[in-house]
Amino acid sequence: MTTTSAADVEQHTGGGDAAPSLRADNVTIKFGGLVAVNDVSFVIPKNGIVSLIGPNGAGKTTFFNILTGLYKPTSGYVELGGVEVTGRSPHKIAQLGLARTFQNIRLFNLMTAEENVMVAMHSHLKTGIIGTVLGSPRKRREEREARDFAAELLEYVGIGRTRYEYARNLSYGDQRRLEVARALALRPKVLLLDEPTAGMNPQESAVFTDFVHRIRDEKQISVLLIEHDMSVVMRVSERITVLDRGEVIAQGGPDDIRRNERVVEAYLGKSGTEQAGGAL
Ligand SMILES: Nc1ncnc2c1ncn2[C@@H]1O[C@H](COP(=O)(O)OP(=O)(O)O)[C@@H](O)[C@H]1O
Ligand SMILES: [Mg+2]
Repeated sequence: MTTTSAADVEQHTGGGDAAPSLRADNVTIKFGGLVAVNDVSFVIPKNGIVSLIGPNGAGKTTFFNILTGLYKPTSGYVELGGVEVTGRSPHKIAQLGLARTFQNIRLFNLMTAEENVMVAMHSHLKTGIIGTVLGSPRKRREEREARDFAAELLEYVGIGRTRYEYARNLSYGDQRRLEVARALALRPKVLLLDEPTAGMNPQESAVFTDFVHRIRDEKQISVLLIEHDMSVVMRVSERITVLDRGEVIAQGGPDDIRRNERVVEAYLGKSGTEQAGGAL
């Protein structure tokens, strides 16, 4: 055989028959004169765990906001499970299988943990306003199923005991878990976690890392994390993409990234190379 088919190339790049869960091609967004995300191309493989890292202000959260539909990119293309979602509404993109947590926890403080999870399911419930007013049997059944599923998810993330507590009374770590339960309520195919271990101690972070693996393995969900804690990034990620000033400066496995000079420089400047070796 003298020619290389597309299938051969796929094999070599690890593509095989599993299309990526999410793909972004040449995504750019400008805010006035600032190019916050510049020509970023990126893939979340099916059932992969990948991370997006980079110094503060690199454009990580902005890129998340494009993927989830909060921002419309100036140019570029985003595809979720083979369907183009560029510029679609967050609601629609969530329905198509993308769920997220926020860098700053966003929970309904005066709702219980269970209610916070149920609110997320609402778009999936079939009964409309008529069913609600009349309290139809179907409505009651859906409500009961939603409650059961919420309770199951709270157990799954390890905070079943908080079911009837107000979200604001939960510990910080438990609020982070509640956010994950709420994201899982959408039955997503892809889960985006924005700095999920922020504010956790090293032990809590380690537990969380294992938990991310469990979610992927047991629920067959692909995961993209933004993470500032390098020990978490290196432990959890199969592939890492590094952003600096809106641009991808490196992409690869943990060992490639740890040794990458541009990455070390981006984090600490040239003079900090030695120190960075330790940090990364
Ligand atoms: N809505 C917005 N309007 C204007 N500038 C923004 C907006 N959102 C983010 N930015 C800017 O884009 C850059 C990237 O920010 P961000 O994505 O939050 O970085 P990161 O999450 O990597 O720390 C920053 O300079 C930030 O000020
Ligand atoms: Mg951010």
